[in-house]
Amino acid sequence: MPNFFYSQFFVTPKLPKKDLSCQTIIVTGANVGLGFEAAKHFANMRAERVILACRDQQKGNVAADQIRQSSLLAAKTHLEVWPLDLSSYASIEAFGKKVNTLTRLDAVVANAGILTKQFKLMEGNESTITVNVISTILMGLLVLPKLRESAKANKKDGVLTFVGSEVYTMAKFTEQNSDKLLATLNSPEKSNMGDRYNVSKLLLLFAVRELAKQNPVSDQNPVLISVLTPGFCKSSVFRDTGFGSKMMNFMAIIMGRETEVGSRTLVDAAVGKHGRNEHGEFLWDNKPAPPTGFVPSEKGQRIQKKLWSELNGKLEEAVPGVTATV
Ligand SMILES: NC(=O)c1ccc[n+]([C@@H]2O[C@H](COP(=O)([O-])OP(=O)(O)OC[C@H]3O[C@@H](n4cnc5c(N)ncnc54)[C@H](OP(=O)(O)O)[C@@H]3O)[C@@H](O)[C@H]2O)c1
Repeated sequence: MPNFFYSQFFVTPKLPKKDLSCQTIIVTGANVGLGFEAAKHFANMRAERVILACRDQQKGNVAADQIRQSSLLAAKTHLEVWPLDLSSYASIEAFGKKVNTLTRLDAVVANAGILTKQFKLMEGNESTITVNVISTILMGLLVLPKLRESAKANKKDGVLTFVGSEVYTMAKFTEQNSDKLLATLNSPEKSNMGDRYNVSKLLLLFAVRELAKQNPVSDQNPVLISVLTPGFCKSSVFRDTGFGSKMMNFMAIIMGRETEVGSRTLVDAAVGKHGRNEHGEFLWDNKPAPPTGFVPSEKGQRIQKKLWSELNGKLEEAVPGVTATV
């Protein structure tokens, strides 16, 4: 595992050199921040079609216009804004149906996420867990069949990559011994919202590793599934953290990457630079960085299985039949 401080101060991820002609790529949460910068890169790399999946159509339209105006190359890309609100299962299901009407889909970057200190329920679960974990995986399962179909037709591996974070290593995760992990995370009294974002990125890592394990990449299933960290970046993700937001923005001035620089890691994963070696991997500074410590430990593996089983229940409640795509 790279050292966080070394990575922040001495590593500048590079943008892969790739021509994305004919490709269709989806980026969630693409109206701002890392998702916006990644979408702009895809357009400048000649992608045929880039879909900005946003919860606010108007913000998405403004972002698409900014990308079109950013260069002559970007202006040639078909940029579309599709509605996707990860706080609503109905919205995710409708998005999944629309994705299945595409004639081609090369990569999906599941980037949208939140960081909040406020305890709130969304679709019956604490909002950070809903948006960053349950809904993100639900969206991933709904786009998998199209990625597979398209990859087989074009004889080129598809990519489903999730934006995680190295903060998973900092999660205290005091809920880890509970009989029911997700139910315990829903308790307003027991919730430690200071730890919640870190826990959400840990659970996302577990879920993506299990999803990748259950979908081994092969010629019959040519989709690379990965999770990446962009590193600590200047962005608006800290906006709902009250005083913490001022502190994080100050720290970002000292050691944060520009959002554009961080977004190169999203692009690197989406073009599948490491080929089938990136399947199931956590990518840090554009390289696989196999988790150490808790995640691969025996206990970590037990929790991964338990979480997956609980998640499957939630996903089936959200969209019956969706787990059959795994
Ligand atoms: N910045 C960092 O240092 C850092 C480090 C590691 C990982 N990350 C991860 O990188 C990803 C992007 O973050 P960012 O830093 O670019 O933050 P950001 O600027 O706040 O962007 C977050 C994006 O997610 C969207 N979003 C939030 N809730 C949503 C919902 N319910 N449905 C659909 N979209 C929703 C936001 O839409 P609105 O504009 O409408 O709110 C926005 O487009 C997140 O997953 C974050 O956890 C960030």
